[in-house]
Amino acid sequence: MVVGKPFLTVEQIHQKNKELADRISADYKGSNLLAVGILKGAFIFFSDLVRLIRVPLTIDFLVASSYMKSETSGEIKLHYNIREEIADKDVLLVEDIVDTGITLNYLRERILNEGPRSLKICTFLDKKGRREVDVPIDYVGFEIPNEFVVGYGLDYDIKYRNLPYISIFKKTA
Ligand code: IMP
Ligand code: MG
Repeated sequence: MVVGKPFLTVEQIHQKNKELADRISADYKGSNLLAVGILKGAFIFFSDLVRLIRVPLTIDFLVASSYMKSETSGEIKLHYNIREEIADKDVLLVEDIVDTGITLNYLRERILNEGPRSLKICTFLDKKGRREVDVPIDYVGFEIPNEFVVGYGLDYDIKYRNLPYISIFKKTA
């Protein structure tokens, strides 16, 4: 297995996060923002993003898993749910990557059932070509081709999350 050159560099990632945070800060002026990071994958993106957002916010997390190695199982397990009251909140769900859309669709429906004031979705990466379920996404960092990527929080077989940049994962024989 080879983790090669950056596909997205630390500088590109930081620049994109600033752009996203500027848009979010403008859109959420005067609102009651609750930023929810989807763990584990979004832990680095989430912490970079919230530090660049310039409006008051509260944070919480969801821990969900759907993936077996690099293949999706299509089944989502919710290991930890939001603890904050969400009825009066403008919820922003923050995800690392949207692939089939099954995970986000499931989490979105769950949160909508609890009646937040509003709900938007921000994802760092979007593999649009792989979508099976249509989920509305409000903020996208980068659209990427159908390649398996690791780093910046994303794993392959629970490894490589600490790589500071995004790399395309290639299996070697
Ligand atoms: P979905 O339910 O198919 O949209 O899968 C989304 C989840 O699968 C993400 O939150 C990631 O945890 C994982 N995932 C999808 N594509 C990749 C990838 O290229 N690298 C690492 N994890 C991925
Ligand atoms: Mg994820």
